[in-house]
Amino acid sequence: MTRSIAVLGGTGPEGFGLARRWTKAGEAVIIGSRDAQRAQEGAAKIKASIPNAQVSGDENSVACASADVVVLTIPFEGHAALLKHIKPAIRPGSIVVDATVPLAASVGGRATRTLGIWQGSAAQETAELLPDVAVVAAFQNIAADLLNGDGPVECDVIVCSDHAESIQSVRGLAAKIPGVRAIDGGKLENARILEQITALLVGLNIRHKGHSGIRITGLPDQAYKT
Ligand SMILES: NC(=O)c1ccc[n+]([C@@H]2O[C@H](COP(=O)([O-])OP(=O)(O)OC[C@H]3O[C@@H](n4cnc5c(N)ncnc54)[C@H](OP(=O)(O)O)[C@@H]3O)[C@@H](O)[C@H]2O)c1
Repeated sequence: MTRSIAVLGGTGPEGFGLARRWTKAGEAVIIGSRDAQRAQEGAAKIKASIPNAQVSGDENSVACASADVVVLTIPFEGHAALLKHIKPAIRPGSIVVDATVPLAASVGGRATRTLGIWQGSAAQETAELLPDVAVVAAFQNIAADLLNGDGPVECDVIVCSDHAESIQSVRGLAAKIPGVRAIDGGKLENARILEQITALLVGLNIRHKGHSGIRITGLPDQAYKT
């Protein structure tokens, strides 16, 4: 059976870029939005450029109800409310991947700083609000501009979770993006570091006018293999 990936907030640059890359790699993708029509428009945009694309669009909770993997790509300001909204719709056994970065900009502060989150990170907040699913932190450090281009993405994706099998599934998904190497980053608590790295990358992008990412060097070959 083909797995189905719902990208919530997939109308925005980060989610749309991931949805497009995965559709291009042959995955079945559902773009999620607060507005079903906006989601369908996003899906139509992908279909127009990728022949035989398996992509559709729907309201966020409807998208979750038919997905095996749910990816959160929304601003932190809507994070907790969205999780409460989708909780009843998430299928048992699903993986929830959180790419959300709690940038202070989401509450009017600077984009180069993260907010203090009681649980430690946005991904840990997700794990607290969705205790019955495997929560994985990943994709926080990939620039949307690179995802939305056609070239290889110069960035490693560090994947953290307290569920080892889910780390492997999401590493497999990340590695479908050309140029990306997916690395097991250990426990979900490390998500706080991934989220803070993004604030640093935003600062570098502003300072140097670029689209920075990260590369991890010096690990055995096995660590990069998926
Ligand atoms: N942009 C990047 O380069 C980048 C890189 C790494 C990580 N990230 C992280 O990925 C997430 C998404 O980034 P983005 O730049 O794509 O964000 P965005 O454009 O601000 O938002 C993405 C989508 O989220 C939905 N949304 C907006 N406000 C919402 C709310 N209050 N509640 C629920 N849904 C809401 C919107 O879709 P609908 O209106 O259709 O519902 C919007 O299109 C953020 O947490 C960001 O920090 C971004």
